[in-house]
Amino acid sequence: MSKGQLEGKVAIVTGGRGGIGRGICERFSNEGARVIAADLAQGEISLPNNVCFELLDVTDEMNVQNLMEKISSEYGKLDIVINTAAIEIEKTIENTSLEQWNNIFAINVTGTFLVSKYAIPLLRKNGGGSIVNFGSYDGFIADPELSAYCATKGAIHALTKAMACDYGPENIRVNAICPGYIDTPMLQSFFGSEGDIESLKEEVRNIHPMRRYGTPADIASLVSWLSGDEAGYASGQLWVLDGGLSAQVQQMRL
Ligand SMILES: NC(=O)c1ccc[n+]([C@@H]2O[C@H](COP(=O)([O-])OP(=O)(O)OC[C@H]3O[C@@H](n4cnc5c(N)ncnc54)[C@H](O)[C@@H]3O)[C@@H](O)[C@H]2O)c1
Repeated sequence: MSKGQLEGKVAIVTGGRGGIGRGICERFSNEGARVIAADLAQGEISLPNNVCFELLDVTDEMNVQNLMEKISSEYGKLDIVINTAAIEIEKTIENTSLEQWNNIFAINVTGTFLVSKYAIPLLRKNGGGSIVNFGSYDGFIADPELSAYCATKGAIHALTKAMACDYGPENIRVNAICPGYIDTPMLQSFFGSEGDIESLKEEVRNIHPMRRYGTPADIASLVSWLSGDEAGYASGQLWVLDGGLSAQVQQMRL
């Protein structure tokens, strides 16, 4: 059997039980990595080979520190960090409470900061590594009633570039994936459950040049490449993966 491109690597995937996170865990497992799927959500789940689950709240500094210590002692190293954990709220700023604003920043931005901060010493010890953050096409172009979410994704884009500048000299590469519409629980909740959802989904699908939504597997392909040694010169970039959606002159109004 031929070796996978992540053979021997150890990876943590936050939000590892979510739509995209799980797709990445599956792909990494197929590529030969050992994976820690870390998530706040618990309960019965069947995990792919070489993927284990760890309970993690990315906003809890002690929880993050303890998990990194556990990875260091149980796996002996860490090569890859994937920060997918996030939430979305669909509101204008007037309808967003300060508590909701602080909460989405705590998960989407502070969570990425904390996990990266405590993972970097392990990557450094190992001679380098790769961090992939999750931005969004919404960090470039706003959708209506997604203000706080858009703001968190813009912050992730800037943080990614800043981290890449700081840690490139230590062979730590930092990139962000900026997905468009990917078929996951987050997208289902974005479409909601009121009105003619199927027509809306069809309308949105058809506005994509590729005439489909993305899948977690589409995202996992790029994450896998960025995390492997073949991407050794790729750092500090915002990788938009949206089926051509943002290449168009006219954006949709939902
Ligand atoms: N699905 C899309 O269309 C889309 C588009 C653009 C960007 N993204 C981004 O991709 C990433 C993954 O999105 P998804 O669609 O898989 O979402 P998802 O809702 O399916 O999964 C998110 C996961 O994050 C976990 N999580 C939430 N709060 C957490 C916390 N405090 N600590 C640890 N885990 C926590 C959830 O339990 C869930 O498993 C997110 O960063 C999202 O913003 C998604």
